[in-house]
Amino acid sequence: MPNPHPIQRAIDDAFQAFGQLPGGANADYIPFLAQVPDKLSALAVVCTDGSRYWAGDVHYRFAIESISKICTLALALEDWGHDIVQEKIGADATGLPFNSIMALELHAGKPLSPLVNAGSAEERWQRILAIQQQLGTADIALSEELNASEQATNAHNRAIAWLLHAAGYMYCDPMEACDVYTRQCSTLLDTLALATIGATLASGGVHPVSGQRVLQAGNTPRILADMTMEGLYDSSGDWAYTVGLPAKSGVGGGMLAVVPGVMGIAAFAPPLDVFGNSVRGQKMVAAVADTLGYNLYRSPASAAP
Ligand code: DON
Repeated sequence: MPNPHPIQRAIDDAFQAFGQLPGGANADYIPFLAQVPDKLSALAVVCTDGSRYWAGDVHYRFAIESISKICTLALALEDWGHDIVQEKIGADATGLPFNSIMALELHAGKPLSPLVNAGSAEERWQRILAIQQQLGTADIALSEELNASEQATNAHNRAIAWLLHAAGYMYCDPMEACDVYTRQCSTLLDTLALATIGATLASGGVHPVSGQRVLQAGNTPRILADMTMEGLYDSSGDWAYTVGLPAKSGVGGGMLAVVPGVMGIAAFAPPLDVFGNSVRGQKMVAAVADTLGYNLYRSPASAAP
């Protein structure tokens, strides 16, 4: 039997080591998420040349949740340009949980980071869905059941929307923004689609399979910088320190890291740590990156083989 490709070997080893690690708990503030089988585990890499490698339940479709924020940020950058996005939203880490009211209070109501909840002002739902599909795959779709579950339990986010409105940082009707934001969190995708989003970002905005340019090349470094600062919320610093790659998590159990110029590494496993990041997802993605020697802060001379 021929030797497996080094990327496949890295995936198999990471999946073997961490794919069934105990620890963490499903998100339960959204009833739909509490019911997802917690043993599910998947790991996938999509490279910028379109090659794909995977292990586990890669075809299981899970809730995108906060990972959707990188897609909506991409759309905002394309529509408005980076200066306006920085002025109206900002890119600094709050160092606080993803739905923190205190983060708003501390900064005169300004959201600071597009990766903490700030609604999705003036963005229409269909365009947000379209950018998720263009960055990933055409089968990313809204789950009516998940959306109903989220809409029925999003009182905290509605409160945030009103606070942003009161502080002058909401650029459309706050309840409309919250409704669209809740929908954007309620799409389902599988782990290969998530890794494909990563590969599109890794290649400066060119889709790895279709070869189509989805984003301007100048926008992807900004998305990756935001992911570095805030992608794992109040554990983003620890992730940068230990793994050294831009990443984004969602409370659906999805986890994505990007190796610029090379690949997207995605994982899915529902149980979360206290910060809302997938326990096994982080371990699996970190192990693949480490085995393949990818860490943006490592000089080439000290790179792992
Ligand atoms: O805003 C919320 O509560 C969710 N629908 C999404 C939050 C989320 O995924 C945070 N991520 N780790």
